[in-house]
Amino acid sequence: MATPHIEAQANEFAKTVLMPGDPLRAKFIAENFLDDAKCITRVRNMFGYTGTYKGKPISVMGSGMGIPSISIYATELYKDYGVENIIRIGSCGAVRDDVKIRDVIIGMAASTDSNVNRQRFNNCDFAACADFSLLKQVVDTAERLNKPVHVGNVFTADLFYTPQPEMFKKMEQHGILAVEMEAAGLYGVAAELGKKALAVFTVSDHIKTGEQTTADERENTFKDMMELTLESIL
Ligand code: HPA
Repeated sequence: MATPHIEAQANEFAKTVLMPGDPLRAKFIAENFLDDAKCITRVRNMFGYTGTYKGKPISVMGSGMGIPSISIYATELYKDYGVENIIRIGSCGAVRDDVKIRDVIIGMAASTDSNVNRQRFNNCDFAACADFSLLKQVVDTAERLNKPVHVGNVFTADLFYTPQPEMFKKMEQHGILAVEMEAAGLYGVAAELGKKALAVFTVSDHIKTGEQTTADERENTFKDMMELTLESIL
């Protein structure tokens, strides 16, 4: 079997798929965090792998950037490959003073300037939110591992290079923790198909201060986020 964008065999994905944006990140996770990882799809170089973490089967696959890209892969994984849980593991830009670069954020809900969930929901506002059981598992694990996390509303932007920077101020006023580009789409797909989704981020840059993480810092904070996410799904 194959779908238009995934060439894996029917039973090759685990029930839980971790999705970084970058397919080379997926390769890095497979090679450094999973045992016996096997590459199961390479269409458009959007690599996907299945292996085990502490004996539990886990898959990891790139999502690409933006709602359209992640929506294609999430839909095919949920509908055609029997995947139950997708956890996006990404980076985001902070918009508030109390959120610092390198912090970990858990997307309880995702606001957006995208129209996709209105297209799904008869033009009404759909409150795109994480699956509570996945959210609780990650938050409980963060407490157990003594890792501080922010939990709250993120903003999923269609445009990275926004023509409306004044919107960042509004976001801050409304309690948005950070900006990214996929969560609201992933949560919408999961809701439509009756599946579970969550998004976990590290802050790679700060929109108010202009601070950015170095490549080394990104790698280290990324490892922390990976450990938290993998431990939470055991
Ligand atoms: N905007 C949107 N997505 C992002 C950003 C940002 O500033 N940083 C990391 N992902």
